[in-house]
Amino acid sequence: MTSDTQGYKQQAGEAAAALVEPGMVVGLGTGTTAIFAIRSIAARLRSGELTDLVAVATSVATSAAAKALGIPLLADDMPRAIDLTIDGADEVDASLDLIKGAGGALVREKIVAQASDRVVIVVDASKVSDVLGIRAHLPVEVLVWGWQAQVRFLDSLGATAAVRETDSHRYVTDGGNLIIDCGFGTITDPAGLAAVLEARAGIVGHGLFVAIASEVIVAGPSGIHHRYRTPG
Ligand code: 5RP
Repeated sequence: MTSDTQGYKQQAGEAAAALVEPGMVVGLGTGTTAIFAIRSIAARLRSGELTDLVAVATSVATSAAAKALGIPLLADDMPRAIDLTIDGADEVDASLDLIKGAGGALVREKIVAQASDRVVIVVDASKVSDVLGIRAHLPVEVLVWGWQAQVRFLDSLGATAAVRETDSHRYVTDGGNLIIDCGFGTITDPAGLAAVLEARAGIVGHGLFVAIASEVIVAGPSGIHHRYRTPG
């Protein structure tokens, strides 16, 4: 990652953290962009500018980071509704639909986002595409039991599907599942593909976030831009 990209991630994350208000329940995303928002929220808490704040973490890694930074967390059963969630993405299209999950937290991220009144996505400009599938593979989280059947199913949909590995071991999510990364090429009908994946037993979740983002903050060489979902 270049230092420019790192700087853009920081700008986007900090711009989103500025939207957090005292008393809010805040969803904390996962990844190298969301962490800048998390650090900035922690700094505002320490300064006394934010009070009564409580957060929900989208991954074990984010939970550990939030605890280390002194951000109070809700219980995992999420006893309160979430006002605002800030998270990253791997690809954002012109309609503000997303591919997420390169960091493996896609299912908890989607649970938190769907439970939120407002979802602000923070990205550097390299993540923006006209059509999803150009810049990122689509992660599909599957149960371990029968996982090779899911690889064949995803292949049959036209994807190049490969189980995710780290250090020659199959990657295991916080939920104890596997991830199959799928190259679909351009995804012209994200909602249609999402429906097909959601109908398949054994698929726990997928990284298509359709009509979930309320707003995307993009930071890049031309500055910081806020894009808003148009209702409908
Ligand atoms: C994790 C995610 C991340 O938000 C996404 O991969 C973007 O990460 P980064 O900000 O590190 O590029 O979906 O599951």
